[in-house]
Order: sequence, then C-alpha cells, then structure tokens
Amino acid sequence: MIYLNGEYMPIEEARIPVLDRGFIFGDGVYEFVPVFERVPFRLHEHFARLERSLAAVKIPNPFSEATFAAVIDKLVAAHPSANQGVYFHITRGVAPRDHSFPKGLTPTVFVMANPLTLPTQKQVDEGLAVAVREDIRWLRCDIKSTSLLGHCMLRTEATGEGCAEVVLVRDGFLTEASSSNVLVVKDGVVLCPPKDHLILPGISYDVILELLAVHRIAHEVRPVREAELRGAEEVWITSSTKDVLAITRMDGKPVGDGRPGPLFRRMRTLFSALKTPPEKPAHRGSPEHD
Ligand code: PDD
Repeated sequence: MIYLNGEYMPIEEARIPVLDRGFIFGDGVYEFVPVFERVPFRLHEHFARLERSLAAVKIPNPFSEATFAAVIDKLVAAHPSANQGVYFHITRGVAPRDHSFPKGLTPTVFVMANPLTLPTQKQVDEGLAVAVREDIRWLRCDIKSTSLLGHCMLRTEATGEGCAEVVLVRDGFLTEASSSNVLVVKDGVVLCPPKDHLILPGISYDVILELLAVHRIAHEVRPVREAELRGAEEVWITSSTKDVLAITRMDGKPVGDGRPGPLFRRMRTLFSALKTPPEKPAHRGSPEHD
C-alpha cells in the first residue's frame, strides 16, 4: 500500500501524469524517515527538514506535522516489517512544460514504506571501502531535491569499483558522501564539516553532534581539508540507514590501521542505545489480558 495525493492504494494502481514537473524537471523534494520497531526516529526533525526543503524551492507544504505523522503510522501499520523506511516525494505538480515555476499548482504527493536494510554485522565489524571523487553536484546540496543525477553518477562509478559509497571533495575540502554525511577523526578530534549549502543537514549527523557534546568528546565543526580526510585516524559516515559506520579503505588505501577505530565503536554503541525503545513495564501476562 502507498499514499498518493490523499489516497491509499496498491502501488500497481498508482498513476501520475507525464507532465508532472517531478517527471519533466526533477522539480521536487523528498524526505526519508527511518522507523525502528514501528516507531519513527526523530520525526519532528525530519518534518522540519522537509519544510525547509519545500520552502527553499517554493513548493507549499501539503502536510501539517500531524498529517505527516498519521501517513507514516498508517503505512507502517500496513506493512509487516518492524523496521521500515518511509519515503516522502513531493513535486510542484502538473503543468505545461516551462522552466519558470507556474503559480497555483497542486503539489503531487507520493509516500511509500519499505523494509529498512540495516548494516550487516560484517559492515559494522570491518567498515566500508569508499572511493573519493570531486563533488560534481550543484551548489544547493542543503535542499533534499529529487534531482539526484550527480549523486547517482558518482555512486555508480564507486560501486563499479567495488566500493560501498563515494566520499566527495570540493575545491580541496570534504563535503559529504552520495547519501551520507562524513566525519573525520584527526589527532583525536572529531572534525565535522559545517552544515552549509554544500551538504545535506543530516539528522544522523545531528545525533552524532549531540552525542559528542553530551559525552564531552573533543570535536570541531569547521571545513575539513582533503589532506585531513586522507590522513585521518578514523573516518565515519552517518545516515538514517547506517546510523554510523566506519570507513576503513579510501581509494584502496587503509584508513588508520584499516580497522574501525575506538571512537567509532563508542559512537555506534551510544547511537544504538538512542534508538532502542524504552524498556517495557514488567510482563504482567499476555497482551490480551492486560
Ligand atoms: N540519504 N547526505 C546526503 C546526500 C543524503 O542523501 C543523506 C540521506 C544524508 C544523511 O542524512 P540523514 O542522516 O538524515 O539520513 C546525507 C537518505 C537516507 C536517502 O537518500 O535515502
């Protein structure tokens, strides 16, 4: 079951007109909300980011936060997996092809839930291999735009070389990866690229920043030079589907000693604890009798 323009239906029945500007221009934005044990993670933060993306491209927000949450609940309840990813896709709507934004369109809204593919134990224990490439994307990477051709080209090149992700540098500075943020440990300090127009402000990145602050782990939010990335003791990627994972090979060379580092292991444990739902009260019999 999916949601399209206010209705729930099987995905096979979903139709959109070919003049939808999402199809013609990639004129739309998206959001991805991870759901663990049927509970959306950081729902408010995801809604706020969707609002910011929509406002940046001047598409009216079709959702209140309550409707946004209700659509997630309904789709999640209709699917068997406890862990799911809910994908929101909102385009400007349908209009004769013209580059300028037409006024008064009704946005097209599509939402689907899929089982969440979480990292394997091997990926956690051994880390990931990545390629490093020049960031060829546009200059508004803070908008979660559906126009992802640059991301797709870069990722495809990297996966063709047997890498799981592609880490991007622009003009000698680290930006992010094709679908994750990147942090670097250098001289024992966690270096976090600033949330400017060159990176997506990741919800998982913010979780890490909070954990670093709460646990008083040395960190700096500042531009990270490519040389610092390449000479790092540890490199991490963060995203809704990965939480935090270590990068252990970059362009075929080991990062640090080639194994996930101690700070990474600490962060991963702290992050996982945040996602665990609070302890249920002591068992008092089967749910039917409660
Ligand atoms: N990707 N940077 C980019 C370019 C991304 O596409 C993503 C997320 C992130 C991490 O953001 P968050 O921590 O909020 O997931 C950073 C999602 C998962 C996607 O494209 O499906």
